Amino acid sequence: MTPDAIAERIAARLDGREPRALLTLGSGLGGLAADLVDPVAMPFAEVGLPDTTVPGHEGRLLAGTLEGVEVLCQQGRVHLYEGRDVGEVVAAVRAAAALGVETFVPTNAAGGIGAGQPGDPEPGDLMLIADHVNLTGENPLIGLPTPHFVDLTDAYDPALRAAARAAAEEAGEALREGVYAGLTGPSFETPAEIAWLRGIGVEAVGMSTVAEVIAARDAGLRVVGFSLLTNVHLPGGSHTDHEEVMDVGAQAGPRLAAVLRRLLPRL
Ligand code: HPA
Repeated sequence: MTPDAIAERIAARLDGREPRALLTLGSGLGGLAADLVDPVAMPFAEVGLPDTTVPGHEGRLLAGTLEGVEVLCQQGRVHLYEGRDVGEVVAAVRAAAALGVETFVPTNAAGGIGAGQPGDPEPGDLMLIADHVNLTGENPLIGLPTPHFVDLTDAYDPALRAAARAAAEEAGEALREGVYAGLTGPSFETPAEIAWLRGIGVEAVGMSTVAEVIAARDAGLRVVGFSLLTNVHLPGGSHTDHEEVMDVGAQAGPRLAAVLRRLLPRL
């Protein structure tokens, strides 16, 4: 289905609501959706969005009000590692843009990259995404009828990042800020890959977000994104498993939710 057709299906369920922001809730962060006032729940398949297969990712869109702001929440997302193509990965972002949403707020679980020194990230830390490195080998703009040479300088909006810092301070939460690298997964990174990522200045590594942000910028949306660092890669190699990612995500999710709630009225 085209983004316009999906947007029409969503609009038909919205009862006149006009969501201003799309929040994509990553691993363990789905809880925020429970706080929506006056929610409408739309399973992905019902509105023509591709369905997710990953445990912990619910696969529905919710519309409602949070802190007085009309939002759409994407609870769960599809990933390249599920064998989905990049157009499916960005379908919700494009549909939200077609609906008139102005701001995209991606969140994800990611692995922090430490140097084995004081100041390293720790599991449970929150990170504001300052920039990204797209290492997926994919780009959602490939194959469009005309080339879209989208500028990605300040893809993560500087004014919204300032608002996010203020929101975190108000929530009493420490907020790191760094570069996120997006890989396809689903294997976690080798120690050699982590050493290289550390060397190029990456602070968090994950398996989502970069394609969605490219599509969002192409559609003219402003972007402010967050990583929840569920595990930390140290020099010499650090074992990682999905359970740990889900557990730490679930524990730290409410802290990120507190920051997001304070950010929304500042968008
Ligand atoms: N690597 C990639 N993706 C992730 C990680 C990681 O260490 N942790 C959570 N998502």
